[in-house]
Amino acid sequence: MRHLLGTEGLDVDTATAVLDTADELKRTLLGREVRKLPTLRGRTVVTLFYENSTRTRVSFEIAGKWMSADVVNVSASSSSVGKGESLRDTALTLAAAGADCVVVRHPASGAAHRLACWLEDNGTSVVNAGDGTHEHPTQALLDAATLRERLGGLTGRRVAIVGDVLHSRVARSNVHLLTTLGAEVVLVAPPTLLPVGVGEWPVTVSHQLDAELPAVDAVMMLRVQAERMHGGFFPSAREYSISYGLSQARQRLLPEHAVVLHPGPMLRGMEIASSVADAASAAITEQVRNGVHVRMAVLYHLLAGDNTADAADAATAQ
Ligand code: CP
Repeated sequence: MRHLLGTEGLDVDTATAVLDTADELKRTLLGREVRKLPTLRGRTVVTLFYENSTRTRVSFEIAGKWMSADVVNVSASSSSVGKGESLRDTALTLAAAGADCVVVRHPASGAAHRLACWLEDNGTSVVNAGDGTHEHPTQALLDAATLRERLGGLTGRRVAIVGDVLHSRVARSNVHLLTTLGAEVVLVAPPTLLPVGVGEWPVTVSHQLDAELPAVDAVMMLRVQAERMHGGFFPSAREYSISYGLSQARQRLLPEHAVVLHPGPMLRGMEIASSVADAASAAITEQVRNGVHVRMAVLYHLLAGDNTADAADAATAQ
């Protein structure tokens, strides 16, 4: 893998190799007092965030540090971006300063692809940490890792992705990855929160959450992205919560083995009831924990350039 820009087009072997490496990293580090491997010593990872983040930025930083890489964090608000420097000049500056990998989050869909084009001759890898409403591939990989762990595999499993699909890069990346890994996906949303062209996606679509819940193995609640809702006919918070919130009553419609996911940050009480988010069937904390191992695995596959069958063992070599 040279870059990780999305899960669209990510083949099943590459995705599985990254997930297997993440599993091996988790097994190796579990219960250890010192969670550090020498694998990426001497490599430099720069996180470049033009949008707010807690989970993704922090877990990339921890992932890099646990692999012994040097990690530098750049936020647009405190960098020369504030003086008007362009994304291209910022990227070229980071590469010239020695970045082996740039992890970028940007409000514009396609920003990570542009960065990868500009850095093509520098040998710097790019990871898309969320670009507009387009993709968030490491979120989908950590969701898949969590579902594999809880359900034992994804082949033939049915996953409902619920809520603001229109603005969700998490939904797009999950649709591509989960279907590549053999799961069935049903999108459950009001008509105004579904994208044009959803009929061409490899999914089924429903507007009735109560009708879908009894038949799923997992339900992934999405964040309502109020910051991206400019104009349009969107449901009010109350309407949304009544029709699409995962309440305690709705939780009772789920099969006993079903897993509840949310990428965070959660709007408790609107998207998901607190009692549901904190229940044993919810894997929300595990998603965050798995995010570190998945991001370690992504950095390893990019920076060590190892996509062999032995990658998982090599990543954890002492
Ligand atoms: N899930 C996710 O991307 O969270 P952050 O915005 O906190 O990184």
